[in-house]
Amino acid sequence: MMLFLKLSLFTLIISAPGLMVSGENMITCYSDVQRLTCETGLIKVKSTVYGRTNSITCNTNRPFSEVTFTNCALRITTIADRCNGLKECELKTDLLGNPDPCFGTYKYYNTTYDCINGHRVVICEQGYSTLDCGSDSIEIINANYGRGNSRTCSNGILSSQTQNTNCYAPNTLSIVAAMCKGKKTCTVEASNTIFNDPCVGTVKYLTVSYICTREIVTCESSTATLNCGAHRIKIISANYGRTDSTTCSSGRPASQTSNKNCYTPDALNKIAARCEEQSSCEVPATNVVFSDPCFGTYKYLTIVYSCVMLVREHEASSRVFYPGFVYIERSVPVVQHFNTSNSIYIHHRCFNTFSIMMLCLKLTLLTLLIAAPGLLVSGENVITCDGDIHRLTCDRGLIWVENSLYGRTDSSICSTAHPPLQVTDTSCSTSISTIAERCNGLSACEVNTAALQTSDPCKGTYKYYDTSYSCYDAETTVICEHSYSTLECAQGGYLQIINANFGRSDSTTCSSGLPSGLTKKTNCYASNTLSTLATLCNNQQSCTVEASSTIFSDPCPNTAKYLSVSYICYEI
Ligand SMILES: *[C@@H]1O[C@H](CO)[C@@H](O)[C@H](O)[C@H]1NC(C)=O
Ligand SMILES: *[C@@H]1O[C@H](CO)[C@@H](O)[C@H](O)[C@H]1NC(C)=O
Repeated sequence: MMLFLKLSLFTLIISAPGLMVSGENMITCYSDVQRLTCETGLIKVKSTVYGRTNSITCNTNRPFSEVTFTNCALRITTIADRCNGLKECELKTDLLGNPDPCFGTYKYYNTTYDCINGHRVVICEQGYSTLDCGSDSIEIINANYGRGNSRTCSNGILSSQTQNTNCYAPNTLSIVAAMCKGKKTCTVEASNTIFNDPCVGTVKYLTVSYICTREIVTCESSTATLNCGAHRIKIISANYGRTDSTTCSSGRPASQTSNKNCYTPDALNKIAARCEEQSSCEVPATNVVFSDPCFGTYKYLTIVYSCVMLVREHEASSRVFYPGFVYIERSVPVVQHFNTSNSIYIHHRCFNTFSIMMLCLKLTLLTLLIAAPGLLVSGENVITCDGDIHRLTCDRGLIWVENSLYGRTDSSICSTAHPPLQVTDTSCSTSISTIAERCNGLSACEVNTAALQTSDPCKGTYKYYDTSYSCYDAETTVICEHSYSTLECAQGGYLQIINANFGRSDSTTCSSGLPSGLTKKTNCYASNTLSTLATLCNNQQSCTVEASSTIFSDPCPNTAKYLSVSYICYEI
């Protein structure tokens, strides 16, 4: 336990202190590039106003006549449509094509946005993934099926199939929202049969950004109670009024429920001012709080909110509790020692075998998550049909594979265009370790399953790969071939290598200025990397490593390689 507490404290120090949710504002003069970014979390645009509401902003070198009219404000949604759900987003404003709200006036774009604790999944073509909100409801922020860069879902693919990076299926958001909005979990498939193929001949992928929300509806005169337990309230949307005739209608005359167009424009701000950052909050659904938006109508209050984590909560808790499993006090060192065969012996709680360690690690991390939001853990699942690219990714933190199965346990998954004979045997699956070996400790990992050569558990059946994994915080370093770097634990901590590879798994890392012939092989792994580094560095306070074929065997001559290492620091 000590290990993970130390680790999370360390995480807190390196991550920006304060809220993981922040409000931002960006003003960009017409024709310049508007750039929105979130250091942590995903962009959610609250509003963009195009026009001019004061005479000072963007007035440099402009004639008086172009900046004096200040009553010009057009609300636009183009920036929200393009940027919501991304971590960063750049738009050349003169290419947005917005209608001119005040001819002759020099205008600017004023965007206010939040960085929210969202989830973002990327699913390579023919893959499946499950969006999961636990007991909350899925709210889709954005989605695209197509290709926006040449790197994502490219492992082992011909470059001609990844060159088109301006490929966008316009119906993606509405289709994914219709499938998933409001559900607790939702499995989505990246496939031309669901979205129309927006760029034939290009290998595509589906990106979906979503948040988990709760909705409460409270009839007029009652009081809404918002509760986030250990986390904090973030208001997503709200209205006090009436938008249908059935909600809160029992026993009311029709005259009080027939108005379906009753809104309180500033309900969101009022509730946000009252509740945001609180762990629980009460809001009376009354005219006193909201001022009556439609006299004579019986109203109700609808609030959609999300529970987010505050980094500083970590400091408040000194005990960690995981229901039904362990109760741990911070002063008890649970991690007794590590050993170089990569197994962790955890006193009382877990077992010192490698297979159980994954479970332990997860439970321990989950345990911590309750009290230490700095150490992010999320459970993820990806399914990929045999022959396609299996892509695991962590928004924050690094991948830890819990289980990978190869086979078939369901007759509908990966069944398109396959005869019944190949998909009916659903009692076939074998647990494999290759995915864990390649992906543990990375923030994104692509494995072209066509090149895996997994031994066949059921000949004649068309199979798929099904991997469950978590994302946890750790350190990671990349060292280009022939370079040296020192892994170091601050304040007397000791190194434990989580994973390492010497080779190449993408064409961009350590490629600057190199001929493409040296970087095009992206399926290159030196199998002795982890054990070599573990011997060299585990349990040391610092460790200098060289990315060189003289230390690791050369897994791919004539390819420029790099060493990627992920590690944690523990204290005994
Ligand atoms: C930009 O928009 C925000 C929020 O709507 C507003 O408070 C601010 O005054 C605006 N700034 C300018 C320069 O228009
Ligand atoms: C290291 O772990 C292995 C199990 O994988 C165990 O057999 C061995 O005794 C452990 N070594 C030490 C020093 O505890």
